[in-house]
Amino acid sequence: MSGTRQANIPLCEMPTQWYNIVPDLPEPLPLPMDPESGPSRLANLPKMMIGECLKQEMSQERWVDIPPGIQELYAQAGRPRPLFRAVNLEKELGTPARMYYKGEFFSPTGSHKVNTALAQAYYARQEGFERLTTETGAGQWGTALAYAASLMGLKCTVYWVRAVYSWKADRKALMELFGAEVLASPSPRTRAGKALYDMDPNHHGSLAIAISEGMEDASSDPKAVYSLGSVLNHVLLHQTIIGLEAKKQFDRFGDYPDVVISCVGGGSNFGGFAIPFLHDVLKQGKKIKFIAAQSQSTPNLQAEYRYDFADHAELTPMLKMMTLGHRIESPPIKGDGLRYHGCSPILSLLRHTGYIDTVAYPIDEKHVFERAVIFVKCEGFLPAPESAYSIACAIDEALKCKETGEKKAIAFNISGHGFLDIPGYRKVLDIR
Ligand SMILES: Cc1ncc(COP(=O)(O)O)c(C=O)c1O
Repeated sequence: MSGTRQANIPLCEMPTQWYNIVPDLPEPLPLPMDPESGPSRLANLPKMMIGECLKQEMSQERWVDIPPGIQELYAQAGRPRPLFRAVNLEKELGTPARMYYKGEFFSPTGSHKVNTALAQAYYARQEGFERLTTETGAGQWGTALAYAASLMGLKCTVYWVRAVYSWKADRKALMELFGAEVLASPSPRTRAGKALYDMDPNHHGSLAIAISEGMEDASSDPKAVYSLGSVLNHVLLHQTIIGLEAKKQFDRFGDYPDVVISCVGGGSNFGGFAIPFLHDVLKQGKKIKFIAAQSQSTPNLQAEYRYDFADHAELTPMLKMMTLGHRIESPPIKGDGLRYHGCSPILSLLRHTGYIDTVAYPIDEKHVFERAVIFVKCEGFLPAPESAYSIACAIDEALKCKETGEKKAIAFNISGHGFLDIPGYRKVLDIR
């Protein structure tokens, strides 16, 4: 199905395999490793992670079958999701560029995070676990996992970065409607959290701290397993459903992107959208410009490429990634899902080898939110604050085309909706 404004594929054409880019990377992906001292974090992984996810994490298999049970869950969650041509936005900007956005905001919980939440909850259930523990920043991942756990009959405990927990009461209520237990992080519940909580009960927290709490919680309960919402190879793998669908939808439009843009925190949204197109660049010689939209609060893709921990309490193995340091203190923002110290090892390697450009927008977020308003007025969908970064970057690129007269096709993913983020819009845009 396609018209001038929207293309979609029927359910029977939804991809049945995820794409694993690891065997196609321009250099071998450096393996996780243990720090020089202390207990082996690598040896602890099988006790901490969902077995199938750990297997996928290390996999060199290029195409990984999506089990029929997960395909059904994807269908229930409304996949395939449409690709739109932003006709009104193009007119408003007066750009010769063709602008396309993928509608990941058509999601029961509001974002792309359900694509891996459903897979992880499905595998956890198969492996006999009864409870999932996790971190969340924006709250989108926590809600997605709460939803997936609920569908799979599992319990769910969410450690939520306090800076965001404090202003998203309705999103907390949504997680609780799905049956999850939701705690502000750092919390007094875990050793990792308590040490910081005791120093400052209003500590605004970070994803790195919340990850430590989720891991510690799971490790003390044999019926629980820890589930991570971004960064790791298997998470990006599950998210490739986004870009794989988008490629089929581009075929229906009879077009192909020159520029692929999305926002990056830990990298699952950007990776999910861009990796299937990166395949074409690496294997078929296509030329695409990839741009990761970030915040100056944590521009991890502009940082050092080195081994670092993924969490604050150093419970994870060390990952080779672009990192600002796992204990960095960064200012909270309204797009707080982007505030993470390190970027996925896969994307870090691709950035290091020159395949990905980045832009980091100022912490006051005015530019980003003002661009999002232009989009809302033309296209009608309210993006999540994180997705507003993708929109800002796409508009900036389209305006460059206006200056140069280039007729590029610009593709961006709108990873989530902003219906539960209105207080953030009000604050940044001073709406009374
Ligand atoms: C809507 C949305 N988009 C993007 C992100 C960024 O995370 P990641 O880089 O893992 O996609 C988040 C994180 O919470 C999010 O909620």
